[in-house]
Amino acid sequence: MSETRYLRVNPSCPESYLIAQGAEVIKKGGLVAFPTETVYGLGADGLNMDAVLKIFQVKGRPRGNPLTLHVASLDQARKLVSSWPPTAELLAKKFLPGPLTLILPRSEGIPDLVTAGLPNIGLRYPSNRIALELIKASGVPLAAPSANISGCPSPTGAQHVLADLEGKIDLILDGGPTEVGMESTIISLAGERPLLLRPGGVTKEEIEEALKEEIAVANSVLHPDKASGEEESRCQGVNNKQYAPRAQVIMVTGSPGEQVTKVKNFLAANRGRKIGVLATSEHFPIYESFSVSPVYLTALGSRTSPEEIASRLFSAFRECDQAGAEMVLVETVAPTGMGLAVMNRLCRAAEQHQI
Ligand code: TXA
Ligand code: MG
Repeated sequence: MSETRYLRVNPSCPESYLIAQGAEVIKKGGLVAFPTETVYGLGADGLNMDAVLKIFQVKGRPRGNPLTLHVASLDQARKLVSSWPPTAELLAKKFLPGPLTLILPRSEGIPDLVTAGLPNIGLRYPSNRIALELIKASGVPLAAPSANISGCPSPTGAQHVLADLEGKIDLILDGGPTEVGMESTIISLAGERPLLLRPGGVTKEEIEEALKEEIAVANSVLHPDKASGEEESRCQGVNNKQYAPRAQVIMVTGSPGEQVTKVKNFLAANRGRKIGVLATSEHFPIYESFSVSPVYLTALGSRTSPEEIASRLFSAFRECDQAGAEMVLVETVAPTGMGLAVMNRLCRAAEQHQI
């Protein structure tokens, strides 16, 4: 493909003539990157096989990894499934539009390519206004994975999309940085009990509160090497390593105090190597004044605000690569609330590497 057109759109009041240009591309079977409240998506007409195929091609995504469909209303969502259980209704009422993807039994008419042959479909009803207007104007559900090259960190700004996909897609709608900064929570409602496949913008605790029951969490969430069951292994994608920068990610474990000691010792023992450090705000000043400087150092956010850390992590990964880091030490947080999403992405990026 040749040129990628770029349009800046007002996120709080999207200009309809700009949205119309996006919809035009979608209707013709092209690819449009657009912001959602989580990360940027790479959208195509989800009912057009040729368009969907292009998504797999430009991302380098394995065909066995299913796509989710993005809708602009619950009515549109219900048409894409063969059953809409009470749990779906409850969660939809409480959290949609918003950063939650529901996996439900699919209806006929959805191309096999979208679901990778699975009997279920993932539905996402985003709250971002640009996303909503684009879906509405296109008149079809949009298949939209994160708008990155497969395996790279998901894009939280238009510049990340351009870095990965410029020249390969038709259009990018730039609506500024995304709010959540991490992909949506994925919950399967297709089995007997709800199963959390990927933690994200809506927390496990919030879902449990809404459903008034405890939710099982897929093994792979904190142990990516231990996916069990077809659904779980699909969600993990075919590659184990995901969301990762080029630099080797190393998780720093232990109590906050232990983490500081481990980072300092590691820096001291690896003088001359290009080490990046992604720190919590509380520890940032300690590393800033340490005798051995990392090649890249940033504060992700406070230990008491995993939301802040989540919103910074993916762009910090990319910044580490730009700084030429070979390895990047990332401080860890408790896997509760939004911390579960942070730890899931870290586990997947680090594979087994930790100190
Ligand atoms: O926040 C988000 O969900 C972003 C924005 C763009 O909406 N999208 C996103 O899409 O993260 P993607 O394709 O990068 O991640 C969707 C995940 C994949 O890991 C895929 O394997 C899983 O959802 N998935 C899709 N359909 C599924 C299904 N029927 N059963 C189990 N997992 C499924
Ligand atoms: Mg993705």
